[in-house]
Amino acid sequence: MNAYVTLLINESYVPGALVLAKALRNNGTKFKLAILLDTSTVSAYSQNLIKELYDDIIEINDDKIFMPVDLVTRKLGRPQLAVTLTKILIWQLVQYKHIIYLDADTVPLKSLDHLFERFASQKPTEVVASPDIGWPDVFNSGFMVIKPDPSVYAFIKNYSEQGEMVSYDGADQGLLNEVFHLQDHEGYNWIRLPFVYNMTPSTLYQNSPAIERFLYDIHLVHFVGAIKPWLYGSQTGTMFHDMWWKIFNDNFLEVDRVKLLSQKPKDGLNLKSSSGSTFTDTTSIASAFSALNVEEAAKVFPWEHRDPVSATRVFDLT
Ligand code: UDP
Ligand code: GLC
Ligand code: MN
Repeated sequence: MNAYVTLLINESYVPGALVLAKALRNNGTKFKLAILLDTSTVSAYSQNLIKELYDDIIEINDDKIFMPVDLVTRKLGRPQLAVTLTKILIWQLVQYKHIIYLDADTVPLKSLDHLFERFASQKPTEVVASPDIGWPDVFNSGFMVIKPDPSVYAFIKNYSEQGEMVSYDGADQGLLNEVFHLQDHEGYNWIRLPFVYNMTPSTLYQNSPAIERFLYDIHLVHFVGAIKPWLYGSQTGTMFHDMWWKIFNDNFLEVDRVKLLSQKPKDGLNLKSSSGSTFTDTTSIASAFSALNVEEAAKVFPWEHRDPVSATRVFDLT
């Protein structure tokens, strides 16, 4: 049996996990819904709602995996994401044939069941995912089709313990992109899904006209970043936030909605960085840039000295 799996580490993402499950069901999935759940931090009230929607509850109370909090804070400015490395536990869930992993801040707009069929012969060393909006040469780890396998799990886990350089963003996405990279790890590869399978709305140049053009192709929306719809009321004004609120309002009783939204959004894990630093350190970027000796390099056009490389982060869907 295949399954959809999400991750819920604390109370703050409960509304997200509930809307996600409803959206999967409303799109008529025939597969199981499973959740990696920390039952020690999520309230009993929320857990009851979760149990109504998810078939399999997988307790992760003592199994959480952390990246160094300081590192994540320095790279992303979001210490809470240190514990998202826990999502690598999906490679241990061999009770499922294939898994579609989704962050709790994602909402499918169409059925995704066809992906299980399309990637039925996926190898455990392959990850199927869409490009990241911040850096499209890497995949976004908020939506992935994977094939569980204990030895791949062990490889990822072991790799995560090799020091700071194993993750460019200090968290799971940076790590998984280093692991599933053919040039460095034989057989480990990223199979590229179209962006419409993990569409992250943003205010970036080109994003809104593209949304207009490709609206009906969008399979899944992902509210990446610190501003989640449920943390910002129903009047944030963006079309996709409104859509999230509509699913929430239409599918949950008022009594539950009031209760859920009155739970103080909190870390639960109380993750703090000792350095107290915020966002990306621009001085280190500047010095890395000057070390590139750009002036020197600019005298030679790229095509005059380019080594042949084979692109492994490309996938032809035809
Ligand atoms: N998550 C959670 N509690 C947290 C932080 C993260 O349960 O405090 C889970 C949740 O499934 C979330 C995922 O980890 O969707 C990844 O975090 P997030 O979506 O905030 O990262 P982003 O996509 O914004 O980079
Ligand atoms: C990413 C992903 C999220 C991941 C986080 C940390 O952008 O959306 O799933 O947990 O950043 O790597
Ligand atoms: Mn996310």
